[in-house]
Amino acid sequence: MAMAGSAVGLGNIWRFPYMVGEHGGAAFIIIYIACCLLVSLPIFFAESIIGKATRKDTFGALESLAPKSRKVGYVAILASFIILSFYSVVGGWSFDYLIRSCAGGFSGLGLDEAKTVFASMGGSPVESVSCMLVFLGLTAMIVGAGVDKGIGRFSKISIPVLFLMVVLIAIVSLRLPGAEKGVEYLVKPDFSKIDGPAVAAALGQSFFSLSLGVGTILTYSSYMQEDENILSAGGWTAFFDTVFALIAGFAIMPAVFAAGIEPAAGPSLVFETLPVIFSRMGVVLPVVFFLAILIAALSSSISMLEVVVAWLVDQKGMRRSHAVLAVFGAAALLGSACAVAPRVFSTCDFISSNVLMMIGALAFALIVGWKMPRERVLHYVRYRFVYMLIRYVAPVMIVAIAVTNLL
Ligand code: PHE
Repeated sequence: MAMAGSAVGLGNIWRFPYMVGEHGGAAFIIIYIACCLLVSLPIFFAESIIGKATRKDTFGALESLAPKSRKVGYVAILASFIILSFYSVVGGWSFDYLIRSCAGGFSGLGLDEAKTVFASMGGSPVESVSCMLVFLGLTAMIVGAGVDKGIGRFSKISIPVLFLMVVLIAIVSLRLPGAEKGVEYLVKPDFSKIDGPAVAAALGQSFFSLSLGVGTILTYSSYMQEDENILSAGGWTAFFDTVFALIAGFAIMPAVFAAGIEPAAGPSLVFETLPVIFSRMGVVLPVVFFLAILIAALSSSISMLEVVVAWLVDQKGMRRSHAVLAVFGAAALLGSACAVAPRVFSTCDFISSNVLMMIGALAFALIVGWKMPRERVLHYVRYRFVYMLIRYVAPVMIVAIAVTNLL
């Protein structure tokens, strides 16, 4: 559940539905699933093996398996920290919008007014920084409560609730008059739109969505029971993540088209278009929607914080509570910079997802594919073709998308 929670996040809600529509509907979904199966899932297994085989934090795990590459551990930990910082800004916005929707602040809202509300929130440093701090504080409280009592317990309750909420919104959305156009946008296959950049987009999205390359899967796997199976944990996580992204698409796009608004991605979809649409459907739906976003974001942010905390506890001998406080303080600083300066925000996003994440994922695949003894890897993955995917296909594809995305 915790792995599924890490995977299911803002990536599923604000990027996936739009990407599907823009890159050829069902044709893109097929490519996305193929990328997951052939590249992302093998990397997931590699990262998971490193965690489970060593039972250490990201740095310690690499140090014991491939001492010369141990510094990549820092890259992954840094990536987790940077993602945590800018992700908390968006988490803070969701918190802000949840409070506004509870107070009925969205009733009768027009699109232009929604844009003004969003701009004024972003333009008010006090509001965006304090909401970011609330979100980061909630993340720290859950992680501070411990792996089982905090992260485990939160995930076991929140993830099923999150699924129910999104299914509920999808049902309402699909019943609106004019919803068919949104369904068509998502499913109508257009293979002519599948080109190199579309495949790179699918792969990049599946990396981010499965939280790969930054040590979250590694750290969570280091807490697995001995008899837990890596293949099924990874398979279920990828399955949940993809199903959730699809349901989110059916919750969002039919409503967008029914309202006659052009679909968008990112902040403008979630914080401008959707409040307008959902507020036309009563006071409850906006509350459910922003609560869902908040939970989805929290279940991901706790996994990023845990990567850094595990490193401080294991390598620096810090007490868990002190480590949580230290990372909270540092992330609050970078998060504040992201909250007030859009350029800092987008630079953090770009560097972590296009550079650091790729370096981490490549290192994990190479260490498991080329450094670890073959028999040891086969003990975990069982099938030779999975080993081959980790050894050959994953590294080649990571280099290919890194080059495509950076050019
Ligand atoms: N998978 C999360 C999402 O889809 C983001 C994330 C990235 C979480 C990296 C943890 C680590 O939003």
